[in-house]
Amino acid sequence: MPRAAFVTIGTYVPDRVVTNAELTRYMDTSDEWIVQRTGIQERHWVEPGLGTSEMAFRASKRALDQAGWKAEDLDAIVFATLSTDHMFPGDGCFLNAKLGIPGVPALDIRNQCSGFLYGLSVVDAWIRAGVYRKVLLVGSETHSTGLDVSTRGRDVTVIFGDGAAAALLEATDDPDRGVLAVELHADGRHAKDLWADAPGSIHSPRITKEMVESEAIFPHMEGQKVFKHAIVRMPEVVRSVLAKAGLQTSDIKVLVPHQANLRIAETVQRSLGLRDDQVFNNIQKYGNTTAASIPLALSEAIPARGVKRGDLVALAAFGAGFTWGAALARW
Ligand code: UT7
Repeated sequence: MPRAAFVTIGTYVPDRVVTNAELTRYMDTSDEWIVQRTGIQERHWVEPGLGTSEMAFRASKRALDQAGWKAEDLDAIVFATLSTDHMFPGDGCFLNAKLGIPGVPALDIRNQCSGFLYGLSVVDAWIRAGVYRKVLLVGSETHSTGLDVSTRGRDVTVIFGDGAAAALLEATDDPDRGVLAVELHADGRHAKDLWADAPGSIHSPRITKEMVESEAIFPHMEGQKVFKHAIVRMPEVVRSVLAKAGLQTSDIKVLVPHQANLRIAETVQRSLGLRDDQVFNNIQKYGNTTAASIPLALSEAIPARGVKRGDLVALAAFGAGFTWGAALARW
């Protein structure tokens, strides 16, 4: 049975770098607070008009160029984001149009920080079932246009950044390559612990002047609750997926945890007993880019950690929903 193997990852982040010092001009915060609590030093924000599907397109073009593939080679697109350009259709169709591949199916995934792993699970299942052989899996987020850039929103706003990363996956029969296992979870009892209420179809009309003037259009987060769940669930699911594959933490060449908060990633590392060289973080430069965070970090982890063909890569996510999961792949 074929498995899904990573071919390459292309990335795109907007040119505009927003430092912690810049944020202090808009809200009551400090570089010291942000670095101490999150590890983040800077993030990228889009200029007006640059959206989620366009960043995904630019990342996808890079991935295709790196692999020497043409867009026409793709059998399917899977697009993970919580920040679609428009309420509908999903950004998969906008990306399909930008890539110029009418007819190629485009699946939209909206599982927030776990979106890339939910997408990877689908891609792997399609490839194992022989449905498709070459798939583009993209995570792309535009947070900056939806953040409360005032002191009221500072707990959320300092964390998030914009960016995109696109992975190309292909069918392989090589037993030393490809996705070994993916495990996914959700617990909707916590849906409102990290969410944005509006605009939404439960409201009639879906958006009002009052909503725009109130906090309803901004993300809200029970930060400590998210933190406490993340540091338990991520190590738990990594151990579980390793057990399913008959592997151990010592077999991991590099773990790429979702980049939510450096303190979360460090706690996960300690809990799993991993050495520093077995974990890769880049939240310092990008903040939390939600669905883009794992592939954006993975693309840098491969050269930074000297990952070679056949090395074991572990991925772990936790985020809004709550949703979480882990994946193992041989590079
Ligand atoms: O992708 C997955 C989704 N998100 C996450 O995984 C995030 C998980 N949670 C976290 O990372 C942390 O909870 C935060 C970084 C969001 C907050 O850190 P914390 O250590 O949990 O701080 P806190 O919410 O307990 O707030 C501590 C204090 C409060 O002031 P008082 O009440 O002690 O006077 C906040 O008002 O820090 C204040 N505060 C800030 N101060 C300066 C909150 N945000 C800021 C800020 N700058 N940006």
